[in-house]
Amino acid sequence: MGEFAVRKAKVYVPDTVAVEAIDILRQDFEVVYTPKENAVTPLSELLERLQDVDGLLVYPRVPIDKNLLDQAPNLRVVSNIAVGYDNFDLSEMAKQKVVGTHTPDVLTETTADLAFGLLLAAARRIPEANAFVKSGQWHANVPNLLAGTDVYGRIIGIVGMGRIGTAVARRALGFGMRVLYYNRRRRSDIENTMHVHYVHLDHLLQTSDFVVVLTPLTEETVHLIGRSQLEQMKPDAYLINVARGKVVDEQALIFALQNGWIRGAGLDVYENEPLPSNHPFLHMNQVVTLPHIGSSTVETRKAMALLAAENLRCALLGEKPPHMVNPEVWDGK
Ligand code: DGY
Repeated sequence: MGEFAVRKAKVYVPDTVAVEAIDILRQDFEVVYTPKENAVTPLSELLERLQDVDGLLVYPRVPIDKNLLDQAPNLRVVSNIAVGYDNFDLSEMAKQKVVGTHTPDVLTETTADLAFGLLLAAARRIPEANAFVKSGQWHANVPNLLAGTDVYGRIIGIVGMGRIGTAVARRALGFGMRVLYYNRRRRSDIENTMHVHYVHLDHLLQTSDFVVVLTPLTEETVHLIGRSQLEQMKPDAYLINVARGKVVDEQALIFALQNGWIRGAGLDVYENEPLPSNHPFLHMNQVVTLPHIGSSTVETRKAMALLAAENLRCALLGEKPPHMVNPEVWDGK
């Protein structure tokens, strides 16, 4: 009798991840890894490779929608290298019985650092000041040179008091700030351990010097911050968004900034990424623009890749993965 070869599950990793994550996957699976230096695998190429793939390890730039799933008849698991999973079409994944996983916790502090850094950068005009010096414009220490806005002791309003919101609140308390928050449900557990105050969204917008958006993108949070919310903010306030671009109505934000409804913004995320080269934000000094780098440190991106690999490994081997987002689909694959 000939030997019976058991087919290893096939995993596809289209973009660069920590090599240790690939090593984990190679122990049990056939791994197709096609990283591009300083670039991502085009979606068209990615879609062409899905025919016999059982598991995908991807960043959330990849929409896991009907179009993709229809081209991946064997696909059982998609492991997102991100905490956010708004790229998942959960109802289509349920129909096609595809499990989705994500990477919470490991990026919380790093993303909170970036959120607070962005707040400081916008308030103290740090990128503008850096560009001013580097471009040779610093000829005298004129009074009020690049005068910014105080942060210490001011009021911060956190929209979305999850893991990252809580970590931002901890930083804000260190800066002597009064911390207001709005969340779908009141977080008495957090209030019991931290000096934070639950308020209605309107109150938060009307009172805060810095409004920090940290809510996940869901059907309920699309354009949660729109024209009527921005209108309520103080004229010297700042909006900081490190969550997802679509939580803020970008056209309304541009209008609010152009008309002085608020003083400035710090943004890491946008309705469409990357930002097109003619986007109004690129010409607005009062807007600090970052390229979606909330969790991007060497250490954290490695931790995310390892956790994502572990999620995928477990799911494909029939062990319940640690961070499943649609457990109703799980049947011990
Ligand atoms: C996340 O983890 O959701 C970050 O935004 C990276 O995309």
